[in-house]
Amino acid sequence: MSYQHIRVERDGAVGLIVLDRPQALNALNSALLEELNRALDAFEHDREIGCVLLSGSDKAFAAGADIREMVGLHFPDSYLEEFFAGVDRVAARRKPVIAAVAGYALGGGFELALACDFIIAADNARFALPEITLGVLPGGGGTQRLARLVGRAKAMEMTLTGRQFDAAEAERCGVVARVVPLAELQATALDTARQIAARSRTAVLMIKECIQRCDESSLAEGLRFERRLFHAAFATADQKEGMGAFLEKRPAQFQR
Ligand code: CAA
Repeated sequence: MSYQHIRVERDGAVGLIVLDRPQALNALNSALLEELNRALDAFEHDREIGCVLLSGSDKAFAAGADIREMVGLHFPDSYLEEFFAGVDRVAARRKPVIAAVAGYALGGGFELALACDFIIAADNARFALPEITLGVLPGGGGTQRLARLVGRAKAMEMTLTGRQFDAAEAERCGVVARVVPLAELQATALDTARQIAARSRTAVLMIKECIQRCDESSLAEGLRFERRLFHAAFATADQKEGMGAFLEKRPAQFQR
């Protein structure tokens, strides 16, 4: 498959996608989002792949939705074509997707990172939802996902001012899972993705499904859902292997 705006590689069981529109600081146009989802579709159907790592450049993960593409957009087209729904498709993936964020993650770029399962950030990362400064609002899930992570007061302040905040603040308020020096970002994120990809695929997907459920259900319903999948895990060979390997003091070999 050929791509114009992204680079797609693989490292063993890890699928690597790099946003690659340097002339526009990886601004997300429709073509890029389409390519990104095509690459994710391929990894989703690839039995060898256990985890996907999405990154940008050292200067920008992505500086937002493409303002050049949006400036002339009118309501009927954006509505009929469900403009920017590509981000929802990223969030709906079953396999884990990690965002490795260096530099700018602004607007739609930040929303894309939030649609991934977790963010590992470099110490030079800058986050913002600056849509308010452009006379619009976040359209890639920003108001919803940010508010769930940081709470109402901070989400209001961040989206109504559009201010940038750094990696340390992002870590403090729960936006990112880890912050590492820029020089260590790719290695740390890849190592994390490799660890996940080496685990039981069934258990990994079940955990992701349970945590996704948090946003959609009551605690009681979520607990019931988790318990049922926990019981179902005892029907897998990976459970026998994982627990057997622990007792035999050897590394587990999970099914592929
Ligand atoms: N869309 C289109 N082009 C963009 C872009 C964007 N979001 N962000 C940067 N670029 C382009 C610039 O136009 C510039 O192109 P030219 O060289 O052809 O002029 C190139 O990338 C480099 O950018 P700068 O010269 O501005 O670089 P800088 O280092 O001086 O500044 C920046 C970097 C602070 C990130 C600045 O580029 C910036 O503020 N970008 C826009 C950020 C923004 O507002 N993002 C939100 C977009 S709206 C959105 O995302 C809506 C949504 O929710 C769906």
